[in-house]
Amino acid sequence: MTAQNVPPQVAARAAELRRLLREHSYRYYVLNAPTITDAEYDALFRELQQLEAEYPALVTPDSPTQRVGSDLQSDMPKVRHVAPVLSLSNAYSVAELRAWRERIGKLLPEGATLDYVVEPKFDGLTVVLTYEDGVLARAATRGDGEVGDDVTPNVRTVRAIPLRVPVMTGGPDVPRVLVVRGEVLMLKDDFAALNAQRVAEGLTPFVNARNAAAGALKQKDPRVTASRPLTAYCYAILHAEGGDVPATQWETLQYLGAFGFRIAKDVIRHLETLDEVIAYIEEFAPRRDALPYEVDGLVVKVNDLATAHDLGVVGKDPRGAIAYKFPAAEATTKLLDVIPQVGRTGVLTPTAVLEPVFLSGVTVKQASLHNYDLIAQKDIRLGDTVIVKRSGEVIPYVVGPVVAARTGAERPIEPPKQCPACGAAVARDEGEVAYYCTNPACPERIARNIEYFVSRAAMDIEGLGERGVRQLLEAGLIQDEADLFTLKAEDLLPLEGFAEKKVQNLLASIQAAKERPLARLIAALGIRGVGSTVAELLAHHFHSIDALAAATQEELEALEGIGPHTARAVVEWFADPRNRRLIEKFRAAGVRLADEPTAPDTTPPTLAGLTFVLTGTLPHLKRNEAKALIETHGGKVSGSVSRKTSYLVVGENPGSKLAKAQALGVPTLDEAGLLALIEEGPNP
Ligand code: IVH
Repeated sequence: MTAQNVPPQVAARAAELRRLLREHSYRYYVLNAPTITDAEYDALFRELQQLEAEYPALVTPDSPTQRVGSDLQSDMPKVRHVAPVLSLSNAYSVAELRAWRERIGKLLPEGATLDYVVEPKFDGLTVVLTYEDGVLARAATRGDGEVGDDVTPNVRTVRAIPLRVPVMTGGPDVPRVLVVRGEVLMLKDDFAALNAQRVAEGLTPFVNARNAAAGALKQKDPRVTASRPLTAYCYAILHAEGGDVPATQWETLQYLGAFGFRIAKDVIRHLETLDEVIAYIEEFAPRRDALPYEVDGLVVKVNDLATAHDLGVVGKDPRGAIAYKFPAAEATTKLLDVIPQVGRTGVLTPTAVLEPVFLSGVTVKQASLHNYDLIAQKDIRLGDTVIVKRSGEVIPYVVGPVVAARTGAERPIEPPKQCPACGAAVARDEGEVAYYCTNPACPERIARNIEYFVSRAAMDIEGLGERGVRQLLEAGLIQDEADLFTLKAEDLLPLEGFAEKKVQNLLASIQAAKERPLARLIAALGIRGVGSTVAELLAHHFHSIDALAAATQEELEALEGIGPHTARAVVEWFADPRNRRLIEKFRAAGVRLADEPTAPDTTPPTLAGLTFVLTGTLPHLKRNEAKALIETHGGKVSGSVSRKTSYLVVGENPGSKLAKAQALGVPTLDEAGLLALIEEGPNP
């Protein structure tokens, strides 16, 4: 095909667009360092799509528009999908939404009316779940829409995805084969907690919840996936055999909900007209930030599934649905300065000082730059025009520089050599990204430590925030955390903003904090690498501050979940005479320094005390998978049947074990029975 009838300037623009899209998609997918916003990328993509629609001769096989998005990872087993796993086209305005309705109207019988379902557009990853006889047999990513990565063992660790449906007795009858589509994601709170823990442990935080979820889903070791807080929402049936499924999208969502899948109950709506859809979009927009998960828009779907199907597909996008995208909370502005902020562990976090810019309802003047490695990786320079992003309540952060906007006057950003607060030397541990102030007596570190000590995550002293702590320090009323416990009303009343009632409440809250569990106190100390998870672990093992203080590096390292850096940080912390004195002050003030040793776990796992024997081939679980599943739920697996065997799990072509079990009266289970036992526990 030649381009004879294409004006040369159009051909040149198309070539330029292709080059830009190639470069930016490489930056996004390969380098993980985009320099333009998603919305800007989409705009370029659409411009090329429009040119190609107008001049079909322009389409080349290597055009970015011809690529079906793929998330395939080369080293994972593959699964061929039963039906294409389609994508969605986008609308960026109400006008584009109306244009969509008009386009599909032309394909429908004269005067046909439509009703719609509106759903959240989850910012996660598609997962395709295959249930055979109600049992989760396979889980795959979208991949290229035809073939996906097999992530079954990982998906089995996601609590919101049932291993067997219906979850509750009395749910709908399940078709023999049911293929469900959903989205795996991380809730905002879980993501924030995970990142806080990573920072406390000196690891690089994830850029956003979607990346964190994607990383977790594609782990080689399902135990790593299990340790990441994933959830999933389901929204479609891709395929069913041997049973009836609903004829409308609205009923599909209710049907999936009745099986026990998580659906976005609070957001989904069944609406009769496009005007109602538009009104709902407008009503919903301000609620978006308050949702527990990230959404980048709403999806509008034709409710009648046969009509939606008959409307067909353009490329990879079905005509029967469209994503309404909210304007991206991204903007470009100038990077004026970078200030290292001293954190409680001494870590120096680069903070961007920006030319004020209006971003989804607020003026942003500062943004996080995460760490100095990332600045170097993304080649962010002082004076750069940068892209700033803000999603939900998250602190705005700098995505990257707009390289094309450089004038040549930009200057590189160097990590600090001295602490900006106390002037002490700055150090960095091998294998860690963070630079930190080496002076444990740094006034800024002390202030931050006390702020952390009183915070909700630590000792939870209500009525004392960042400002209050600074006031107490400045007034000389406290020098360390322990001084809080000897504060008196007459000390506080003269301070600005400390009225009678407030002082009373604060003192009561300080009193209550003396009784916090040991794990909270350990977490509150602000030892590097010791967040709430590690603190729980330490409290659980040592039962008292004194035992922990006496622990050696080897003893600590021997604990699962504690690495050498953290072990060393703990030993060093307790070796510091200032910290020993702090503990003695706590003791003198009556702060609780030990826990009663408690029973190891409060809720026994469902298979505790049960012994299983496996025989024959199970329909879905391999033998080692079944064994691992039983063991993670507290059961034991034995090789031979005896009177002590609680259950024999029987698959196809069972061996002589079956006869033996029958002779001994040992009850038998099939795979589905085993999964039911895991979910519900043995019947009393
Ligand atoms: S429906 C034919 N519904 O958005 C149906 N997709 O941009 C096509 N997504 O790959 C998909 N929330 O991973 C649908 N409520 C929702 C969705 C949703 C998020 C994702 C999905 C898809 C991507 C397309």
